[in-house]
Amino acid sequence: MILWEIARATGLIAVVVYTLTAAWGILLAGRGIQQPKGALELHRSLQSIGLIAIVAHVVALLLDSHANVAWTDVLGVDTRPGIVLGAVALWLAIALPITFMARQRKRISFRSWRYVHYLAYAFWGAAVAHGLWLGTDTRNPLVLAGYGAAIALVVGATAWRLSGGAPARSSRRPAGTA
Ligand code: HEM
Repeated sequence: MILWEIARATGLIAVVVYTLTAAWGILLAGRGIQQPKGALELHRSLQSIGLIAIVAHVVALLLDSHANVAWTDVLGVDTRPGIVLGAVALWLAIALPITFMARQRKRISFRSWRYVHYLAYAFWGAAVAHGLWLGTDTRNPLVLAGYGAAIALVVGATAWRLSGGAPARSSRRPAGTA
């Protein structure tokens, strides 16, 4: 029972933290933040906390004999679409920071990294859809309102970014990615 509660709590924590990561990243990319270096550190730290929450979520589900989650589910080998969405989100959550490190070591170009980083939107969408689909707590009106707020935040930030973001002050790229 405690494992199931840990799994539910860490799943929700992961969605909250990654929503903040996504919104902060969009704000950063849209030049809405004055000090890109510190802001990028925060973006990375949030991402790391989210990843820890995901690992705890998946491990708790694997250990919980009532959860009906197997190692093959982690690989995405499952017929339940909600589980496959979770697996897609998991692997993207692992892949995205690896591509960031590859960029820092100049193993990939800024342009390639940027295109790959657009997968962060797919990751966040898969994570939210997975939580809404499978979550026991989706029935709780407060949790449902939280999902609504998360979607409004990321969709709103994306719309702001697509409309041009903040006026350009300089041509500098976010620190660490140049
Ligand atoms: C292979 C990877 C994954 C598997 C097998 C998996 C499996 C599950 C299962 C079985 C549930 C239902 C738990 C319940 O009864 O409430 C669940 C819920 C949830 N998962 Fe995952 N998950 C995975 C990855 C992820 C990822 C990457 C995230 C977030 C970034 C995430 C976030 C959530 C959330 C928010 C819930 C709803 C919690 C609730 O409302 O109770 N999961 N997951």
